[in-house]
Amino acid sequence: MGQDQDTLSVVALCQSERVLWMPDGSPHSPRFKDRYRSRSGGLAQAMTVFLAGAGLPVGWRGRNRFSVLETGFGLGLNFLCTWAAWEADPQRCERLQFASVEAFPVSAADLVRSARNAGPEDQPECSIALRLPVLAEQLAQVWQGLSPGIHQWRFAGGRVQLTLAVGEVQATLQDLDCQADAVYLDGFSPALNPQMWSAQTLHLVAQHCRPGATLATYTVARSVRERLRQLGFSVEKCPGLPPKRDRLQAVLRP
Ligand SMILES: C[S@@+](CC[C@H](N)C(=O)[O-])C[C@H]1O[C@@H](n2cnc3c(N)ncnc32)[C@H](O)[C@@H]1O
Repeated sequence: MGQDQDTLSVVALCQSERVLWMPDGSPHSPRFKDRYRSRSGGLAQAMTVFLAGAGLPVGWRGRNRFSVLETGFGLGLNFLCTWAAWEADPQRCERLQFASVEAFPVSAADLVRSARNAGPEDQPECSIALRLPVLAEQLAQVWQGLSPGIHQWRFAGGRVQLTLAVGEVQATLQDLDCQADAVYLDGFSPALNPQMWSAQTLHLVAQHCRPGATLATYTVARSVRERLRQLGFSVEKCPGLPPKRDRLQAVLRP
């Protein structure tokens, strides 16, 4: 109840969410008292936990259209990495659709700062890392006036579409028109933010999935695994990105 009221009042005010930048360059949420991304860096997490976990880029090859659904847009890094990986893949699908929900949008300046800090500093030749700030600038240009509701933008000559549903996860998922081929669950830790991982939220996510949809996340919390199984997903624990031992990937059984 307190969290819902908080959500509505902050969204209604359309203020940017405060991000706390730590001395090591990592972004934290004062509201949720959690980090926006893994200690190993945002790029590593996006590529290993989310893209690889959801079977990308292989999954979109040969497809006309491919849709990703994410819970928790945050600093947009998963979107930017997915876009950059799509751009770098000669066998990419014709159109990439990315839909995400977010109750507390951050500022455009934080989106850009996050993309510049995504790493890895020791591998500056990494083409994805180099593209992130460029793509983030394009996102920052349209990132304004984020009132509650659905916002949609097109990039890459219309071939990449971002749909951002601003609002509380369950209400926005109900309004979202999306049939996902892949899902990223990225709503902070289930212990600190149970609403993003509740049975009702995951049920709504599953309703937006095509049969055979893949799903990826960093948590292997038993409650999350059990809920996903009950919803028809085959769930697998995989070696995680250090310092986490495990990550989770799943497929919605046809
Ligand atoms: C770990 S961050 C997401 C990081 C993001 N995917 C990225 O690539 O930068 C989790 C996000 O979930 C959002 N969130 C948390 N609880 C929410 C809720 N109940 N409804 C909608 N969004 C929520 C937070 O505001 C935060 O931006």
